[in-house]
Amino acid sequence: MYLTKEEEHIYDGEHGWASQICMKILVRLGDLFNADKLIPISSAHVSGVSYKTLGDASAEFLKALADAGGKAHARATLNPQSFDTEYLKQRLPAELYERQMNIIEQFEKKGFIQSLTCTPYYLEKPRVNSHLAWAESSAVVYTNSVLGAWTNREGGPSALAAAIIGKTPNYGMHKVENREPRILVKMETQLRNEMEFGALGVHLGKILEDKIPVIHGLRNLSEEGLKQLGAALATTGMTNMFYYGEYSKQGSLERVSVEAGDIKDAIEGLSTASKPKPDLIFIGCPHCSLREIKKIAGLMNGKKVKEGIELWVCTSRYVKEKARKYVEKIEGSGGHVLAGVCPVVSWTEKLGIKTIMTNSAKTAYYAPMLNKAETMLAPLEECLKKAVEG
Ligand code: F3S
Repeated sequence: MYLTKEEEHIYDGEHGWASQICMKILVRLGDLFNADKLIPISSAHVSGVSYKTLGDASAEFLKALADAGGKAHARATLNPQSFDTEYLKQRLPAELYERQMNIIEQFEKKGFIQSLTCTPYYLEKPRVNSHLAWAESSAVVYTNSVLGAWTNREGGPSALAAAIIGKTPNYGMHKVENREPRILVKMETQLRNEMEFGALGVHLGKILEDKIPVIHGLRNLSEEGLKQLGAALATTGMTNMFYYGEYSKQGSLERVSVEAGDIKDAIEGLSTASKPKPDLIFIGCPHCSLREIKKIAGLMNGKKVKEGIELWVCTSRYVKEKARKYVEKIEGSGGHVLAGVCPVVSWTEKLGIKTIMTNSAKTAYYAPMLNKAETMLAPLEECLKKAVEG
């Protein structure tokens, strides 16, 4: 990969160890994927912020980078951590909280924005055609497909390195020829809600490999549905983008169709619960928008969450602040609006949570592995009905 004189100096350590190690990560990655050069990025978004998923060795590396003076040279945001500073802080061991805070402090020293969300596009929408280095897979698919910015699916370390250097290797989704669709997905059934969009994503992720689809015949489009589709697509597959709507060059594409049975099978496969009553109802994977929180407050409408069930609505601090009056309504109903966290990257098993009900196919996919929990996948309205009626 071609490096400018300045980049070579960084590579040789003339700007210190922190920049050198980050440049080496980017060059290694660029060489691996035949990138021609580094390109500037408008923003980086780093995953691997939760102490639960990161562990001590990675936390040490973050500290070493901060101690060596590593600083972000692009706008850099962070994925959710394992705690919120109100509810879960009271309920989980203090030692875990301290370790989590230590990680956040290391990011803060490096100038990262404490966004703590997997929907950083609600804080600041990336510009159309801008180049990014984002590591949260749900956000990667959403930003490529819906917002029109360009990013590869970075790993935690490469997004971190890109943030510090302010650049990313030019390969993959940064090149126009790699953003061409290769397969036409024909919808032979209609999706009725955001949960079914997620189920479609789970189904397609398994059959598409890394091929970019044009999904034809999708109706009932909503921001929430597309967000669920992208999150689930990235959960079961390697596709980083989808097109929806009309596509003029259909003739050249491979074809598959999606039937009602495919959606039904995907939902059933993600509903593993052996008992009818969940311990936790979780909405907010990916993190909720203001509109979603408003909708939840409206659906709860003063009803009370049934004893023995918890309702968590997860979002960023930024959105929670904007949604203050709806947050009060949800909390008045006995739900918890948690900022900066999600159950998947926290220790729900330490809270005795064995069954999680959610409208998110991504959570339903990961919870059995990462939370040792059984799952119930259902649309938002059904989840909230369950929260109230048990
Ligand atoms: Fe976000 Fe957690 Fe889901 S990080 S995408 S809410 S698994």
